[in-house]
Amino acid sequence: MTTVEFSPAAEPLAAKLLEPAREILARYPAGRERSALLPLLHLVQTEEGYVSPGGVAFCADILGINKAQVGAVATFYTMYKRRPTGEYLVSVCTNTLCNVMGGQEVYDGLVEHLGVGHGETSADGKITLEHAECLAACDYAPVVTVNYDFTVDQATPESAVELVENLRQGKEQTPARGARICSLKEMQYQLAGFADPRDGAVADGVAGAPTLRGVRLAQQHGVAVAGFDPDTPITKTKPARAEGGLPPRTDEADKPVEAKPEGKIASAVKKAATAAKSAAGAVADKVGEHRHAGRTTDTGDVKDPEVRAAESRNPTGDTPGDPATTSPAPGNPAERAGVASNEPAGDGKPAGDTQRGESIVTQRNAEQKPATVDPNPGWQNVRPGTEEEK
Ligand code: FES
Repeated sequence: MTTVEFSPAAEPLAAKLLEPAREILARYPAGRERSALLPLLHLVQTEEGYVSPGGVAFCADILGINKAQVGAVATFYTMYKRRPTGEYLVSVCTNTLCNVMGGQEVYDGLVEHLGVGHGETSADGKITLEHAECLAACDYAPVVTVNYDFTVDQATPESAVELVENLRQGKEQTPARGARICSLKEMQYQLAGFADPRDGAVADGVAGAPTLRGVRLAQQHGVAVAGFDPDTPITKTKPARAEGGLPPRTDEADKPVEAKPEGKIASAVKKAATAAKSAAGAVADKVGEHRHAGRTTDTGDVKDPEVRAAESRNPTGDTPGDPATTSPAPGNPAERAGVASNEPAGDGKPAGDTQRGESIVTQRNAEQKPATVDPNPGWQNVRPGTEEEK
């Protein structure tokens, strides 16, 4: 690899991360190294716990791309953090099934206990809390992960609080399933594509009963896909045509197939298809004539008719106003009453569609505003860097 000239912003990280970064780049074909950006961003987080401005500069310099390109990727994915994180990232699923099963209560309980909201870190720098979208473990809803490992299944507010207290006090916490808990920075190293160095750390974590419930029921009731042999080996590569039961591709096979005498049914089908095609052509011509009726010359208007119709409905192209006044009233009386009593909020969302956890924090902060300076500068409420700063 050629020598990279690092900018002053990237130098501190380059001094620490150049060797593993080169190892990551070597996994990609020559000329395609910029595909290494995702693991490189994780690598950056192993040092600083987030994608710092220096981390953005480091990725940009080593890949020969600009900082805006790095920023565009780093801000797209939620696993790249834009402000410093704690030792443990506690994620509570508040998506549909977990929410129905009490996920929001679990999240609210942690918000109240830790005094932080989404993406914020506790004053001791130990716990960063976030609510997450579906964590792909709906069968154990509601679920809580620590550094992306399933740690509490079927969580309750109490079990979640117990979890964070154990983590804060350094007590060993056995995950419900999955690998042994490590720090978030150590997890970032694994996400960058390096093995967990701890002995047997990933040996646990078999599928649990709720996950296997469907399979067990199918076995119990003798349900199976017709003709499927459960012992069929999984092929690692696409099978050759012959292995896949397909005839070999030969010059012979590529030759045009000799015409065979048509049966009565085949020739009737062919005739019907030809007739349908010519009828469709005639209809298309009529539609064209109709569309162009009244036009004496070609106006050069090549707009899609739907765009033209939308423009005539809303010639100024401005944002529609209050939906309560611009939308037709629902015909159903119950629905009408619901709309009337549910005033839209300023952002267009129905009133009441707020983050319950955040409102708890806001309220709590208002009540308990500390009189002194932030005791933990650098850990909490760091303003995300702007693209210019990066
Ligand atoms: S909805 Fe929570 S894991 Fe799927």
